[in-house]
Amino acid sequence: MPDYLEKNYWWAYRHPRGVKFFDREWMVNLILFGNMAKLRDLALAEFDRRLEGRTLQVACVYGDFTPKLVECIAPGGSLDVVDVLPVQLANTRRKLRRNAPVTFHQRNSNDLRFDDGAFDQVIVFFLMHEQPDYAREKTLAEALRVLKPGGKLVLVDYHRPHAWSPMRYFFEPILDLLEPFAVALWYRDLASWLPRETRIASSSKKTVFGGLYQKVALTFERE
Ligand SMILES: C[S@@+](CC[C@H](N)C(=O)[O-])C[C@H]1O[C@@H](n2cnc3c(N)ncnc32)[C@H](O)[C@@H]1O
Repeated sequence: MPDYLEKNYWWAYRHPRGVKFFDREWMVNLILFGNMAKLRDLALAEFDRRLEGRTLQVACVYGDFTPKLVECIAPGGSLDVVDVLPVQLANTRRKLRRNAPVTFHQRNSNDLRFDDGAFDQVIVFFLMHEQPDYAREKTLAEALRVLKPGGKLVLVDYHRPHAWSPMRYFFEPILDLLEPFAVALWYRDLASWLPRETRIASSSKKTVFGGLYQKVALTFERE
């Protein structure tokens, strides 16, 4: 288990009581100030709610994120879900119908162990802010490696609120206390943690809720 996860998030993700406590729609919405459905749908809209081919979800998510992804899988398509914690994988599996075309893998996002170019799209929903710089860099390098040429990487996570948003002033110390690596996302673009040699072909960013959250969609140039 990654050190940052054990130290900062064991209560939220590893402990079975934590899983039971947090995995409720109202709780997820409380944490995200009512923005769960909006953020989930923003990610899905990147693919016109139709996931062709192979999709990779890096890290489990509380709430209905994975069930909604599954609803969008096109005929013949499939979803692979990676998480480092077995309790999280089991919890997500429980939320899906039995014959859903989904495969679960207990793996670290820093070492995905899939072939290069194995996936048509990779989705990372609220994992970036939990990771310290070194882990965030490795996760993004791996996401990029397993993405097919022309494939899309979608990241949804925290972002620095606009100057007019009260969140900018009172939420930073709270975030700093509860999620010590999150505030870094307020001061750097997510793409800045990609490997230095990365050539971005297209990039789009949308922020919501006064800028507190962002969705970034990226495609890449390959030789
Ligand atoms: C996606 S994040 C947070 C999502 C959001 N806060 C929610 O509503 O669940 C939480 C997940 O990331 C997983 N995780 C954290 N670090 C990981 C890593 N290095 N590799 C794979 N999974 C990881 C945790 O086990 C947990 O299931």
